[in-house]
Order: sequence, then C-alpha cells, then structure tokens
Amino acid sequence: MPLRLVQLLLAAYPSSYRERYGAEMAAVLEERMASWRDLLDLARGALDARLDPQIDPPRVLAAAAAIPPASAPSPALPVPRAPYGVVASAPPTGELSRRVFMRRMLAAGVGLLSLEFIAGTLAFTWPQVRSGLGGKFGLGTPADILAIQPSWAEGWPYPYTKARLFLINVPAAKELALGHQASVKSPSADQLLALWRKCPHLGCQIPQLCESLKRFTCNCHQSTYNILGEKLKTGPAARGMDRFEVSIGDDGGIVVDSSKVTAGAPNLGPDALTFKDPFPWDAACH
Ligand code: FES
Repeated sequence: MPLRLVQLLLAAYPSSYRERYGAEMAAVLEERMASWRDLLDLARGALDARLDPQIDPPRVLAAAAAIPPASAPSPALPVPRAPYGVVASAPPTGELSRRVFMRRMLAAGVGLLSLEFIAGTLAFTWPQVRSGLGGKFGLGTPADILAIQPSWAEGWPYPYTKARLFLINVPAAKELALGHQASVKSPSADQLLALWRKCPHLGCQIPQLCESLKRFTCNCHQSTYNILGEKLKTGPAARGMDRFEVSIGDDGGIVVDSSKVTAGAPNLGPDALTFKDPFPWDAACH
C-alpha cells in the first residue's frame, strides 16, 4: 500500500488525534503493511473524528495505541467517553452491567431458596429427640415435693406443669375428699396416680381441685371427675381422666413416663367407681 496514501489519510484527522496516536501509528506502519480494510477504517475514522471528536478512535488507531513499542512502553489507552446522547455499549471498568447484576441477584435468590428447602427437609427428617410429653419426667422424691407443696401430704394434688399432670397421693387424697385430716408423706409407687390434665372430652386443661367438693371440673363443658380422676355424672366426657405410668427409682425419686398412658375408666355409673366421696354423683362444683 503506498505510504503516501496512508499519510494523507492520517493528515485528515484532527490535530488532537494525530498528537495522541501519531507516534504509535507510525510504529504500526513500520511493522506491517496496511491492508485495504485498514485504509477504509482510517478513512471512516477521519470522517467521524471531524464530525464528532469525542467518538471512539478507529480500529487501526486503537490497535496502534494498544501495541507497545519495542523500546519504551506506550501510554495507556484513555477510556473512551460516551458522547452526550449516545449510550455506551459497556459499563465503565469495575462496574457491573444491569444484566450481570440481575443474573447474580437471580442466582443468589435461587441459592437461598434451595438452601431453605434443604434445611427444611433436613429439619423435618432429622430424628426428633423427645423432651416434652412422650418422655420421662423425674419429679423428685416425696420430700422434694413436700418442700414445694406441703399440702400434698394432706391429699391436695401436686400440679406438675412440664408434663401437664396432677400427682395424686392416693391415700391422703381419699381422706381429703372424705373430709378427714391426713398426713401421708411417703406413699409407695402403687399409691401414686399421675392424672393427665387433658380433659378426655375435647382436650381442655383441667384446673385445680374444686375446693368445696374436692373434685376436678373442666371449665369447657363442666365434665366432673372425683379426686382419683373417675368420671362422675356431670358433663359430656365419656370416660375418666387418663393417667401416666408412675414408678419410684432406686434413688427414691418419682418418675412419670408420659409415653405410657392408660385411658380413664368409662363412665358406667356410680356403682362402677372405685372411690365415692360424700357428695351426690351428679353434684357440680360452683
Ligand atoms: S373439654 Fe372438658 S368437658 Fe369438654
């Protein structure tokens, strides 16, 4: 390609372009012959540069700026500025484009959802350690219970809220319901009842003993039970209060196993009761 033609095309550029790229361009032309495509690119770039000096330099000039000379490093190519009214095709160096940002946010969202799903599945399938109802409860020795509630020796039920039960000291409770003074401080295992406070009708929690009758009455529909949890006439429950298994350990502590439940006896009338207090079968607590 005639060198003269190349020089003419370069001379057509504004002086600011020639000052910035002239030295590098000369080096490029020394190293390789310019092709017809390079000439066309130079011509188009000269026209563009005349019309708008802020647009990107032509390919050949940019290549010239990017090729370091053999002897000394070339100055860094300035970041092209988008002219007013023209949108840059790529974000500035070091900044995310909107598309990349959206992709990353989408990936982060999918990742979080997956993590939540996996964690939920693991939590659901993980073996459950029983610590609430369904497990064993140590209530302490009779002396421990009496230290908390001395009236337990006189027959008043001991409420143990962790297992939602009343611990009944049976011989003392019978005396209490009969209106007698009792003091049973160390009942044996077969003299203990662990009555579940869940009403067998619809599951309401049964409150403390009715003081006047010494009976339990559920506040929801007035089902009434004697002090041993046997169902009396009043109320819709079909059976007595359920009970948990009770034992006394080697250390003398009372242990209730709430996984072993015995259903209360069915309501078969006053003759089926194992204990009768002095009040009528259908008397209700007021
Ligand atoms: S839930 Fe207790 S009587 Fe209905």
